[in-house]
Amino acid sequence: MCGIVGYVGNDNSVPVILNGLEKLEYRGYDSAGLAVWSEQGAMLRRAVGKLENLRREVERNPLAGTLGIGHTRWATHGRPSEMNAHPHRYGGVTVVHNGIIENHRELRHALEAAGHPFSSETDTEIAAHLIHDEFEACGDLLEALRRALLRIEGSYALVVLHDKYPDRLVAARQMSPLVLGVGQNERILASDVPALISRTRNIIFIEDGDLIEIRQDSHRIVNRHTGEEQHRVPKNITWTPAMAEKGGFKHFMLKEIFEQPRAIGDTIRSRILVEEADVVLDDLKIPEARLTGLRKVQFIACGTSYHACLVGKYLMENLAQVPADAEIGSEFRYRDPLVSEDTLVVAISQSGETADTIAAVNEAKKKGAWVLTICNVLDASLPRLSHGTLYTHAGPEIGVASTKAFTTQLAAVYLLAVWMGRRKGTVDRARAQVLLDSLMQVPSLMEKCLEHSEAIRETARHYMDARNMLFLGRNLLYPVALEGALKLKEISYIHAEGYPAGEMKHGPIALIDEHVPTVALAPLGFCYDKTLSNVQEVKARRGPVIAVASDTDPHIAQYADRVFLVPQCDYLLSPMICVVPLQLFAYHMADLKGTDVDQPRNLAKSVTVE
Ligand code: AGP
Repeated sequence: MCGIVGYVGNDNSVPVILNGLEKLEYRGYDSAGLAVWSEQGAMLRRAVGKLENLRREVERNPLAGTLGIGHTRWATHGRPSEMNAHPHRYGGVTVVHNGIIENHRELRHALEAAGHPFSSETDTEIAAHLIHDEFEACGDLLEALRRALLRIEGSYALVVLHDKYPDRLVAARQMSPLVLGVGQNERILASDVPALISRTRNIIFIEDGDLIEIRQDSHRIVNRHTGEEQHRVPKNITWTPAMAEKGGFKHFMLKEIFEQPRAIGDTIRSRILVEEADVVLDDLKIPEARLTGLRKVQFIACGTSYHACLVGKYLMENLAQVPADAEIGSEFRYRDPLVSEDTLVVAISQSGETADTIAAVNEAKKKGAWVLTICNVLDASLPRLSHGTLYTHAGPEIGVASTKAFTTQLAAVYLLAVWMGRRKGTVDRARAQVLLDSLMQVPSLMEKCLEHSEAIRETARHYMDARNMLFLGRNLLYPVALEGALKLKEISYIHAEGYPAGEMKHGPIALIDEHVPTVALAPLGFCYDKTLSNVQEVKARRGPVIAVASDTDPHIAQYADRVFLVPQCDYLLSPMICVVPLQLFAYHMADLKGTDVDQPRNLAKSVTVE
C-alpha cells in the first residue's frame, strides 16, 4: 500500500514530507518521490528503493518550498523504477496516488489517441492527464478534479498540486485511506495518522466521496457527488506514535485481521466482469493448448499458504471438475513428482520468497509444468520464476502470523476455479453470476464476523490456560481447522491440532477430557449434522466445545459450550468467513497470555532457507 503526504504551511515542506513518509514506511514500498511548488513549476525528486535514496537525492539536488506532496510507492502497475515513482506530472498538474485505477487501459488508449504523451507505465499518470484536460476546460482545480474522477473507476487517495497555485492542494478519497491534519497555520494530508502526529493531533478522517481543498489556514471538504459542504470536526488523537502505526490497534496482526474486508475488495475488484459473469485472468497468459491438454492442477505452498492450497484443490475439483492436488513444498520437491506439460502448477506464497516453495516450482518447471503463482509481493522471486502471477492486494503483512494474506489467497483460488470452470464449460453463465455475486458479498460478511471480536476475547479468557486444543472441520472446512490450529500454535504457543472431523474417532478422541477444548467448524449446510455428531462425541467425554456456527442456527447453543457466530454464506466461500473468528480467537489467546503477537518466538515472516 502506498504512502502519501501533502503539506501547505509556513515551514519548508521537504522535511515535513520526508519525515511523514518515514512514518509510513511500514506500509511497504519500493520507490519514493516528492514535488515542491516553485515559480518555475513544480520541482520533482524521485528515487528507487528506500527513502534513504530519496533523502540522498534531495541532499544532492536541494529544493525547498512551503507547498509540496510526497509518496512512497508499492508498485501495482509498472515495475519499481524512477520513471514509475510518484509524483507524476503533466501540463502543470502534479499528482500522487494510492489505489488502483481499474479502467486504466481504456483511459490511456483514449488519451494517447488524443495525442497525450506518457512518460511512465503507471495508472496514476493518467489522472494527471485527465485533471489537466478538465482544468483547461473549467479553470477551477477542485472542479477539474471532480470532473476527472467521473471518468475514473477504482480506488484512490489522490493529492494534486498545480503550478498555478502556490497556496493550495486538492485531494479526493475513494476506498484508499486519507487523513487531514489541522495544524497552526498549516494543513497536512496523509495516508495514515503516523505521518501527521508529530505536527498535530487534530485530525479529520477523510471519507469516501470527499473532495478536499487545503490552504495554510483553511480547508474545504465537499461531497463530489452532491457538491454539499461537509463539516467535519477534527478529532483529537491521543495515540502514541507507535500505536499510530498500527492504526490504533494494539498489534499489527489485529489491524491486519480488521483490514481483511478491504484487502478482499482490492483483490477481487479488478478481476470480476459483472456483466459477462466472468473472471479476468488474461494477464496470466496461460496458453490455450495448456488448457485443452490440462490433466491436473497441482497446488504447492508452505504453512498457511498450504491451507489455501487445500481449499484451492476442493474448489478446482468442485467447480472446474479438473483433478487437483495440494502438496507442501518441502515434500513435493524431493519426491520426483509426476508432473509434466499436462500439469498446471499453482504456487501460493504471501512473500514470494519461501525457499521450499521456490525449489518445488523449479522442480515442476524442469518437468515441463506451466507455473502460476498467487503472491502478495510484486516482482518477488516466485513471480519472477513463474509463467504468470495472480497478485493478491492485501498490502504489506507485517504480523508474522498470516491473516489477510490467507483470505486474499482464498479469494484468488476461488477466482481461478470460477475462471477455469467457465473455460471448461462446467460453470455456466448463470452459475458464475451467482458465484461472483456471492464473492462480492464477502467483505460485508467479514465485517459481521469482526463485530464479535470482544465476545471471542471473553471465550479466549475462559480457555487461556488450556495446554492442548483440537480443531475439527469437514470437507472445505478441514483446511480451516488446520489454519485455526496453526494460528493458535504459532502466536500463543498452546499446542493445537487441526483434524478432519470424521477422523476424530480414529485416534484423537483419546485426547479428549475436560482439559482439552475442541473447536468445531459447524456452520449450517454441508455436513452440519455429521459435525454435530462429532460435537456430541466430544461432549460425551466431558470435552469443552467451541462451535463456529451460523448466526441463524437455533440448535447449536444446546450442544456447544461457546459459539462463535458467522453469517450465512455460500458454502464454497465458508473458509473465508469461518477462519475470521479463529484468527481473532488465536489473537486474543496470545494477547491475554502476553506473548509477542507480531513477532512470535522462533518464527520469521518469510522462511527463505530450507
Ligand atoms: C503463517 O501464519 C506462517 N507465518 C507461515 O506458515 C507462512 O504461511 C509460511 O511460511 C509460508 O509463507 P509464504 O506464504 O510467504 O510462502
